[in-house]
Amino acid sequence: SKAKAAKLRVFRGTAAGGDFQNYEVETYPGMVVLDAIHDIQAKQSPDLAVRWNCKAGRCGSCSAEVNGKPRLMCMTRMSAYPEGEPITVTPMRAFPIIKDLVTDVSWNFEMAKKIPPFKPRPRDADGNWRMQQIDIDRIQEFRKCIECFLCQNVCHVVRDHQKKEVFSGPRFLIHLATLDMHPLDTLDRREMVKRDFGVGFCNITKCCTEVCPEHITITDNGIIPLKERIADDHYDPVRWLLRKVAGK
Ligand code: F3S
Repeated sequence: SKAKAAKLRVFRGTAAGGDFQNYEVETYPGMVVLDAIHDIQAKQSPDLAVRWNCKAGRCGSCSAEVNGKPRLMCMTRMSAYPEGEPITVTPMRAFPIIKDLVTDVSWNFEMAKKIPPFKPRPRDADGNWRMQQIDIDRIQEFRKCIECFLCQNVCHVVRDHQKKEVFSGPRFLIHLATLDMHPLDTLDRREMVKRDFGVGFCNITKCCTEVCPEHITITDNGIIPLKERIADDHYDPVRWLLRKVAGK
């Protein structure tokens, strides 16, 4: 049977400006958007810039917007889009463009550096750390994060209001929640969660949760409980510790 063709509109350009370029590629069963981009690179535009590594949804590198929706290109099937209509591929909107589909996501790494790391309590006398599965059930979900930054890209606080100085975005609120809910961690980061990472700017639109390719319940299981832990306790260290131990 004759191979089907798909049309793509791909952003080509730099921070100085750019435009869309139209391409046509032959499709095959199971083809993903990243395959189409690679096909264009191989046969039509060898200078098309795209960042990718694993092609298996594990590395979080090939984040872009497909028809305006934040996606991992490697996990997005061409067959998910209506046949014959062009598929538009653009770089993530919240971060500065380097070239074509590649953005500069270094702001995220700067945010990550600002978070004081895990500080566990001393080991038990036998040299072990003990915790119960039940104590880490919730944060285990958060550890699935692959740092694709699609949640950062879609969050309107990061995207529209340019609050990047005072708001860390959902990915790092999840990281802060992971630390705060960790039964072995001893550092009280609540003040900085508010002051330096701006948890109060999140108005629970849940767009971050919708785009997470790992299906982490970012808002309901992470950010909202983090807000509660900070608001209700009035920085009472005893209540904080009790919540921490109870995993709430
Ligand atoms: Fe942004 Fe997610 Fe809150 S999209 S506003 S961090 S619920």
